[in-house]
Amino acid sequence: MKQKLYQCPEHNIDNYIENLLKLKHDTELNTILKNAKTDRTPPIQIARSDARHLEVIARLVKPKKILEFGTLNGYSAVALSRALVKDGILYTCEKSHHHATTATRNFEELKLNNKIVLIPGDALNNLKNLEKLGPYNIIFLDSKKEDYPKLFEWCVKNLIKGGLLLADNVFALGYINASEETISENLKKIVTEIKKFNELCASDTRLNTTILPTGEGLLVATKL
Ligand SMILES: C[S@@+](CC[C@H](N)C(=O)[O-])C[C@H]1O[C@@H](n2cnc3c(N)ncnc32)[C@H](O)[C@@H]1O
Repeated sequence: MKQKLYQCPEHNIDNYIENLLKLKHDTELNTILKNAKTDRTPPIQIARSDARHLEVIARLVKPKKILEFGTLNGYSAVALSRALVKDGILYTCEKSHHHATTATRNFEELKLNNKIVLIPGDALNNLKNLEKLGPYNIIFLDSKKEDYPKLFEWCVKNLIKGGLLLADNVFALGYINASEETISENLKKIVTEIKKFNELCASDTRLNTTILPTGEGLLVATKL
């Protein structure tokens, strides 16, 4: 069968989606991007179209509790929080003091601090506490990529049945299926660990897993 071409950068598919869905008119998310320039946080948040992907997917499960690993300045947290049911809560973990401070300020400015709670510090050292706050309807992984396999088992255990495990960047910056010799030394570890994570999700019978071919690759798995 002829392979379908999912990404057509030469045809500006991303621009088409942004314009069609008026993604650049999102005042809350624009506030975060504007503050990020003055706060000098790195521009490594998810794309505008991925923020919409997360929101739409999250709304499907009417979440009461969401957990995010990797806040940065709160961009994806704000998008995900829109899917929360009344009185729902989103916990987001951030280990960088600077990022945690900017995100907290953003949540306050947007008056979302009643439904988004930032948990500062290294999330890997905080799993016991996070377990007590769960279980979760959605867990979104977007922290250090090499940590994804370490977090896998914990995530499955702390999701409710029917809950969603979401993970960004599962194409490992496009190198997920590249031949060994084309992968630089610094990328090797990331590619190896993301492959391990993808394989864990794909082969686990507790999950029903797919990968949406977004720019970065968004893994979506339901806990059965
Ligand atoms: C790609 S950024 C997150 C982007 C954010 N999800 C968004 O799209 O708006 C990754 C963030 O994860 C944080 N991080 C990395 N490892 C972490 C860990 N073990 N615990 C908590 N935060 C971590 C980094 O400091 C960084 O701010």
